[in-house]
Amino acid sequence: MNSADTEIVKSLLRKEHNLVESPDEADLVFLNTCSVRDNAERKIHERIIHLRQYRRNRKNMFVGILGCMAERLRERLVGERDMVRLVVGPDEYRKLPELIEEAARENKSGIAVELSTVETYEDIEPLRTDGISAFISIMRGCNNFCSYCVVPYTRGRERSRTAQTVIDETARLVAQGFREISLLGQNVNSYKSSDGFDFPELLVRLAENHPEIRFRFTTSHPKDFGEKLIDAMASHANICKHLHLPVQSGSSRLLELMNRRYTAEQYIAKIDLLRSKIPNIALSTDIIAGYPGETEDDHRATLELMKTVKYDGAFMFKYSPREGTKSYKIGDTVSDEEKIRRLNEIIDLQQNIAFEKNQLEIGKIHSVMVENVSRRSEADWKGRTDTNKKVVFPVPADMAIAEGDVFNVKILSAGSTTLKGEMCD
Ligand code: 5AD
Ligand code: SF4
Repeated sequence: MNSADTEIVKSLLRKEHNLVESPDEADLVFLNTCSVRDNAERKIHERIIHLRQYRRNRKNMFVGILGCMAERLRERLVGERDMVRLVVGPDEYRKLPELIEEAARENKSGIAVELSTVETYEDIEPLRTDGISAFISIMRGCNNFCSYCVVPYTRGRERSRTAQTVIDETARLVAQGFREISLLGQNVNSYKSSDGFDFPELLVRLAENHPEIRFRFTTSHPKDFGEKLIDAMASHANICKHLHLPVQSGSSRLLELMNRRYTAEQYIAKIDLLRSKIPNIALSTDIIAGYPGETEDDHRATLELMKTVKYDGAFMFKYSPREGTKSYKIGDTVSDEEKIRRLNEIIDLQQNIAFEKNQLEIGKIHSVMVENVSRRSEADWKGRTDTNKKVVFPVPADMAIAEGDVFNVKILSAGSTTLKGEMCD
């Protein structure tokens, strides 16, 4: 989401400003920030310190903080390390040209952190870098208020773009040569446009307009994920057979405390329905270890759910208390040591499950969209299956190959994150 927002910011600035690649050449450096866990914020504070060295050559160089940290910390960021002069939240990017102008001319600071109920930037064409894969942000904000999560406070209320602007932007991207499009939203399942589309309807329209383009989407909230979207995925070959469905915990008791509004049983029932209609679907998830009040039994329930579902991939985190959220008030009751132990158990289990699942891919033939030359060897190229698995395979030296090409690849071996294969007919 932040990458997509950065493309919007670049687009807003390109008319009046020269965008450079390195802080060495910059008079102003923007950091687009995330507040979802303390770690993400800590990195930004470190980056501000790091950027100070560029003052040696450019005395007036300064930093602008964009995104969720700007929204959360506001004036507390101004002046940090004598570097930060602009603080601009996720709904205020249109003000950037004016704020930069003022800050540069009058040597002052600027803050803009109002949240909006309507801003979607749908009329701004993001400035995308070359490649084959593009993001389209179709909605912004979140209304779910999961007890641990700061996003509803930093990104504000849910709002959807009109379907027509998404349909038109997709057509332009396809004409420019993009081969894969990822639709983004904090919860795409609650997409509802003023021109009458829900998310499955939008996805089907795009998939049918562009049968040669791969469509992905993220993120889905399990409470809103249902049969209409499953049927849309099942009936369109170019809607990728991969779903990211964050479970957070396998304990229904904890899920209630987290305000997730589904039980572990309901979650598993949705996975069963999904797999009955799309047997080879790949699944990924997010899991939090050490939520306040999590007992050993709750933790065991998470491990059990992971064994039942058998995810292909997972993002796994230690609980991080976020000021202003409901669970912040309960306190951080699980010790750091215990959180780390539980998280490591979760990570180890997931690695084993992914490894075992990937062994089942050996001998299968996948259609792989090429992304780039493999980092390890010039003779190998890297691509992705429509189930979002990374595949590395050798390409004959005399063969012309380009990003976005699709090949059939037979899988020969597999680790926990990457498959290896060979091209076949
Ligand atoms: N602590 C740890 N993980 C969190 N996430 C959101 N808030 C927190 C928090 N306070 C995780 C959730 C979410 C993902 C984007 O980040 O798993 O799905
Ligand atoms: Fe945060 Fe929950 Fe919204 Fe996801 S659905 S952004 S976890 S509040």
